[in-house]
Amino acid sequence: MNRQHFLTLIGAGCAGLVLGACSGVRAVTGILAGKVLEVPTSAFESTSSGVTTYEQMVIVHHDELRYYVCVIRRSATDYTALLMRCSHQGASLQVAGDRLHCPAHGSEFGLDGAVLHGPATTAITQFPVSVDRSTIRIQLS
Ligand code: FES
Repeated sequence: MNRQHFLTLIGAGCAGLVLGACSGVRAVTGILAGKVLEVPTSAFESTSSGVTTYEQMVIVHHDELRYYVCVIRRSATDYTALLMRCSHQGASLQVAGDRLHCPAHGSEFGLDGAVLHGPATTAITQFPVSVDRSTIRIQLS
């Protein structure tokens, strides 16, 4: 499977309301294999003048998923995947710097999914993640 089939970059502009006001966060289309959402580790990479840098987070979407998934890179082998669904009343979350913001009633969540600001009182859904050399696998249920 080549990268072009695996990954569709949305581009540098806005990728819809979920990303907030042109947050600059990279958005990619994942591959859904049953209940597993796959994303290439290369989705986090940028190379310029031979130097590779890494995005802190990438938003992953798929036509069959109602909500986007925010994937946070903590190291080459450690990623966190958060469902971008507010735990208060289910609105789609937006990226706001180093937190996820709910435009419905103002809740905010950290990049570990914990509530930083209500009215939400419970963390957002975090999915188990496994990583091999080239693929991040997010177990959706
Ligand atoms: S639905 Fe998110 S704060 Fe109410």
